[in-house]
Amino acid sequence: MEQAMRDFFLFLSKNKTLTKLAKRYGLRFGASRFVAGETIDLAVKAIRELNEKKLAVTIDYLGEFVDNEREANEMADHCVEAIRAIGREKLNAQLSLKMTSMGLDISDDIVLRNMRKILDAAQANDVFVTIDMEDYSRCGKTIEIFKQLKSEYDHIGTVIQAYLYRTEKDMDDLNAYSPNLRLVKGAYKESTEVAFPDKKDVDDNFKKIIKTHLLNGNYTAVATHDDTIIEYTKQLVKEHGISNDQFEFQMLYGIRPERQEQLVSEGYTMRVYVPYGTDWYGYFMRRLAERPANVAFVLKGIVKK
Ligand code: FDA
Repeated sequence: MEQAMRDFFLFLSKNKTLTKLAKRYGLRFGASRFVAGETIDLAVKAIRELNEKKLAVTIDYLGEFVDNEREANEMADHCVEAIRAIGREKLNAQLSLKMTSMGLDISDDIVLRNMRKILDAAQANDVFVTIDMEDYSRCGKTIEIFKQLKSEYDHIGTVIQAYLYRTEKDMDDLNAYSPNLRLVKGAYKESTEVAFPDKKDVDDNFKKIIKTHLLNGNYTAVATHDDTIIEYTKQLVKEHGISNDQFEFQMLYGIRPERQEQLVSEGYTMRVYVPYGTDWYGYFMRRLAERPANVAFVLKGIVKK
């Protein structure tokens, strides 16, 4: 039942018509629990509130299914605007973005031009940029673009998904770049030909890549709400004498906020991923797919109205 619900929401997340409708009608159905707002001003307000609680942030201007150059350029402009706001307001925040929103499905030239514009602004404002990882069909290309940009800029990282079979080899290849990586379980619906179908295998691979990346001496962001993985990481760094400034924990905005603050009070860096913008629908559906309790929360919100 849980798997059927997960598949249903992941299916809905890819619906282009609903994506367009959602953009037109604004944040609905409890999405504001997971999305900071539709404008940069609302995002800045949310970052400030989190920074006051000693939580670091990575901000994401939401955008999916970008299939024309004009829109990709506009997305890049929004990212530059976000970077400048972080610099101007002296916020403890980084930027996350998706390659498809920069034009990955259109052409490499467009992506690279947009990324260089963003990374130049990021360098000028001392803001770190993470390339999110999307579905399997974009993974190889995203890693190639990351490698290219990493040879030109320092302040860039990307994401590796524990559920993919290819991940171990990607980590081996990437190690030559000493990359700052965010490690996650993986959020997309993938076939058993490319991804572990069983949760236990994903969790085991997650632990394996956390260990490899940390012991290789690389900066590691462990992005999860899963206490078992968090406790595993704490134990691992203790055993190997790895200092707190070689890793951080990350969680999504609106998910387990008490746990986020608790980790800060224990002396760990905790970064919250704060999405904002009008294109909230796909992101929201993936959060519903992750946890049935989130669906119950949304249904309660709809009934109350
Ligand atoms: P999972 O969903 O398996 O949950 C494990 C356990 O955590 C649960 O059983 C429960 O105990 C606890 N838990 C989870 N949610 C809870 C809640 N609301 N309240 C209480 N307990 C809760 N994916 C991707 O493919 N590409 C990407 O670029 C990113 N980027 C990214 C950034 C950040 C900062 C995060 C945190 C996550 C991502 N992800 C992602 C998403 C990621 O791949 C994954 O889908 C989600 O994090 C959910 O997996 P978890 O590791 O949290 O565990």
